Order: sequence, then structure tokens, then C-alpha cells
Amino acid sequence: MELNNDRFLRALARQPVDRTPVWMMRQAGRYLPEYREVRGQAGSFMDLCQDAARACEVTLQPLERYPLDAAILFSDILTIPDAMGLGLYFETGEGPKFRKPVRTAEAVAALSLPDTERDLGYVMNAVRTIRAELNGRVPLIGFSGSPWTLATYMVEGASSKDFRHVKAMLYDDPQSLHRLLDLLARAVIDYLNAQIRAGAQAVQVFDTWGGALSTPAYKEFSLRYMEKIVAGLIREHEGRRVPVILFTKNGGQWLEDIAAVGSDAVGLDWTTELGDARARVGHRVALQGNLDPNVLFARPAAIRAEVARVLASYGAGPGHIFNLGHGISQFTDPDHVSAFMAALHELSPAYHQA
Ligand code: CP3
Repeated sequence: MELNNDRFLRALARQPVDRTPVWMMRQAGRYLPEYREVRGQAGSFMDLCQDAARACEVTLQPLERYPLDAAILFSDILTIPDAMGLGLYFETGEGPKFRKPVRTAEAVAALSLPDTERDLGYVMNAVRTIRAELNGRVPLIGFSGSPWTLATYMVEGASSKDFRHVKAMLYDDPQSLHRLLDLLARAVIDYLNAQIRAGAQAVQVFDTWGGALSTPAYKEFSLRYMEKIVAGLIREHEGRRVPVILFTKNGGQWLEDIAAVGSDAVGLDWTTELGDARARVGHRVALQGNLDPNVLFARPAAIRAEVARVLASYGAGPGHIFNLGHGISQFTDPDHVSAFMAALHELSPAYHQA
């Protein structure tokens, strides 16, 4: 099927574009009143993820409001541990929780690979529904968590600030953690390949908590498994390359290592300067980022100035996908996102003149 807007895929391939493509991490979500309305009708958050028609509706909501160059599947990274039987639930205002955290070597040994079709088929249904509804408007991004980031939630049993249980496992019983990460890497490969077969045209791996690790631990417990994933993915589908984006939050100091594992692009948070990142790895990968999402709490003039600064930092030429440096906050004013988009559309074409 023909794509009406392939800017995002072109930028990932570091090919010329007319303006810098943009999407926002967590672009479908609670900052949008129309999301909150559908969310309210759906029951629980997981009910919403499992209802293909509603998941499709909320995926498309930000595209109705803003001139975005990609859609991202509405789902969550924690669908895999849920499919492994950990019992995911969300308590209002408290974030994700698991009924059965995985704290011991025995608990790790008892886990098995989920059956993607049986246990996660609802995600593929959503992908197919969204692809059909998009009808070539923009590409659809599939995603997963990194094995390390998934393991943090599985071992802690909830969101964490210090990662005390999973780090205790890392230092006391690295073998068990490796066993868990290896299982998760295999599950992520199956899951992302199923999303690609169902119609995802690019995939992103979210390593939200990689930056909490020491340098050697990052390489051994996070990056190594993302490398396995990249090596296991379908890279061509429907006659087109399926690009892979790796995003390690707070991973800027490891950029050369991340760029060396075979992805098409690396996502950056705002603590790494885009221009510096381009000088370091721009010959190997496209770069995605990296406006501080909290800039969107400032007034439109300040938002515009910061968009200008991020564009100038990357500089002229292809290979930049504009994004936030992390997910958009639920407290963001949707009109401030409009100001962000307007600034980007006004300022970015100058960076792409022949
Ligand atoms: O628009 C999109 O980007 C697609 C949907 C998406 C969600 N979660 C929906 C969601 C994506 C890509 C994610 C990824 C995700 N989920 C990550 C990685 C990205 C990041 O932000 O670092 C992580 C760590 C999670 C785990 C997770 N899910 C948390 C910590 C929470 C609760 C806190 C929060 O930010 O809301 C969720 C729930 C969740 N996932 C919501 C949404 C829209 C809000 C729940 C609700 O609507 O009730």
C-alpha cells in the first residue's frame, strides 16, 4: 500500500525530506480531553488496550489535532509481563503494579515464553485495525520495552526510584537476571515481529531505565539484549525496510556503543546535545529527539525558541526525527503542543534546502 507521507521513514533512512518529521513519545494519552473521555468509557487501561476499535480511536486522536508524521500503536510495554502471568494492574494515580513480582531464582525459572498469538493477539488486532484506518496517511510505529526495563517492573513489582530488588538480583545472582533477560529478549523478538507482520512499519524499543545502570552493567544487562533483539527482527516487510529505533533514557554517554548494535536510529533525551550526538554517531544512525517535554509548560514564545535551538543543534541535512526527549506529561496544555508544531513547521524547512 502507498504511503501518503513517508517523511518519517525517509528521515530514518537518512534520506532528504522537505521538513523535519515529528511524532511525540506518549502522544496518545491523558493530556488530551478526548483520550480521557474514551478512557472513561473503556473500563480499565488494559480494557482499552484490548479493545481494538477504541485503541485505534485513541491512536488516531493526536493525528486529528496535530500535523504528526507517524502514529504509534496504543498499547503498553507491560503487555509482555502481563502475558507471562504476572497480573498487571493500574491503581489510579499510582502507576503499574504486578500481583506476582519475580523476586527469586525459582520465580525466574518458573517463567515461560508467552504465546504471542494466543496471549498478545489483541495487540496484533489493534495493529491491523489501526493500519486499515490510517489508510496510508502516515506510518505506524510498533514498540516494546527493552528486556532490562521490563525486568525492572517485573522484579520490583511496580515503578521504582532506586531499583533495589532488581539491582540486588543483578549483583547477587546475575545468572538469574540473565536468564530472565534472555527470556524477555526472545519474547520481545516474537512480539515485535508479530507487530511487523500485522502492519507496524517501524519499531521502537523503549529502554526507559537503562540510564540507571553503571557503564559495565548497562552493556552487560541492557545493551547486549537490545543487540540480540535488533539481530532477531524482520528488517524488510511489504517491500520496504522496517527501521528500528533504540531509545535509552539517560544513555547519552554510551551513544557510540548504542549506535554500533545495528539499529537504524537512536532516540535521545534532552540531556544529550543533538549536535554533539550527530558528530559522534550521525554517520551511522539517524537521531530522534530531543525537546525536554517540560518545555511545553512554558509559554509559546519560549517553546518556539527551544524548538529553534533543537533544530539548529542538529543542523542542516537529513537524519533527524523531531520528538520529545521523553513522554509528554499528562499535565500538558494541548494548545502548547499546537505551538510546538507550528514552530517546527515554520522553522524546519530551512534545514532541508537542496
Ligand atoms: O501514545 C503512545 O506513545 C502510545 C502508548 C504508550 C503507552 N505507554 C500508553 C500508556 C506507550 C508507547 C507506552 C510506553 C511505556 N509504558 C513506557 C516507556 C516509555 C516511557 O514513558 O518511558 C513505560 C515505562 C510504560 C509503563 C507505564 N505504563 C507506566 C509507568 C504507566 C503509568 C504512568 C503514566 O505515565 O501514565 C503506564 C500507563 C499508561 N501507558 C498510560 C498510557 C496512556 C496511562 C494510563 C491511563 O490512561 O490510565
